[in-house]
Amino acid sequence: MKSVGILGFGKYVPEKIMTNADWEKLVDTSDEWITTRTGIKERRYAAEDQGTSDLGVEASKIALKDANIKAEDIDLIILATCTPDYRAQNCSSLIQNKLRAKNAAAFDLEAACSGFIYSLTVGKAMIQSGMYKKVLVIAAESISRIIDMQDRNTGILFGDGAAAAVLGEVEEGYGIISSYLGTEGVTDGTLRIKAGGTRYPITQERFDNREHFIEMNGTDVFKFAVKALPYATKKAAEQGNIDLKNIDMVFPHQANLRIIKSAVKKLGIPYEKVYINLEKYGNTSAASIGIAMSEAIDEGKLKKGDLIALTGFGAGLTYGSLIMKWSK
Ligand code: COA
Repeated sequence: MKSVGILGFGKYVPEKIMTNADWEKLVDTSDEWITTRTGIKERRYAAEDQGTSDLGVEASKIALKDANIKAEDIDLIILATCTPDYRAQNCSSLIQNKLRAKNAAAFDLEAACSGFIYSLTVGKAMIQSGMYKKVLVIAAESISRIIDMQDRNTGILFGDGAAAAVLGEVEEGYGIISSYLGTEGVTDGTLRIKAGGTRYPITQERFDNREHFIEMNGTDVFKFAVKALPYATKKAAEQGNIDLKNIDMVFPHQANLRIIKSAVKKLGIPYEKVYINLEKYGNTSAASIGIAMSEAIDEGKLKKGDLIALTGFGAGLTYGSLIMKWSK
């Protein structure tokens, strides 16, 4: 089996900063409440003229440059997103066009906040099967467009951003070692946008009821997450025959500091090994793990040979974990 890993990496976050103080002006909340319950201080929102594809393109350009390859060398683009520019047209096709990646097939992968881990896993399998050589995995979200700015329960949690990774063959023994993907499907409103799909098309009444925005049962998601993150990480470690003690750094989905702390405690992984930047960006859904990795790389915190674990959860409910030996 070929060893498949990351050849280039990039991230992009929009310029506009939305602080907790800004949220205080919109709903009955406080910086103190948001900080103690979530750890989030601020998040980024896409500009009016930016769609998710634009964020993905910016991150991809950096990743391609970092990998030192041209867009036309990409065979496949996988975009993890739950906030595409349009419905029915896949958002990865827009990115393919804007990058002029004319030799690439492109599809979107919808696994909500677990999307980056799912997409890296699929990309790796595509390369190992011999079908493709270079796969561009992107995670990009504009969650600010689907949150209800009148809903303090969900609105304060999310932000926008993108990350991109060029996958290809790496030195033997390096790259993605194992991954575990899971789903605990629910059919209720634990975490979803109710209206605008095929079951409940948008009507004036549903629009007036604000059903075209995210609805969430925060307590149920919290309970799920504190079980799913450690479970998936243990499973991925087992599959890769890895002792969790040897993990150098963990990149958890940046949803809530309390969820992350609980999960790593259950895993027995020291908190110093956990990379956290949710105070700056909030929950950027599929993009959050990639944005965290990109910042760790920029800060020189990853070195060749480091064992890293990515772990996430999201709507679906989906969850997953992936372990890789850093190859750059
Ligand atoms: N500011 C002030 N008060 C708020 C608030 C806000 N932004 N949001 C909710 N509250 C209120 C609630 O209305 C509730 O009031 P009540 O008791 O009068 O009804 C109170 O705070 C406590 O709510 P509770 O749900 O118990 O808070 P919590 O400690 O569970 O924290 C979340 C709420 C949403 C932060 C937490 O449940 C969470 O993070 N869940 C996971 C969500 C997630 O990660 N989603 C994305 C998955 S990818």
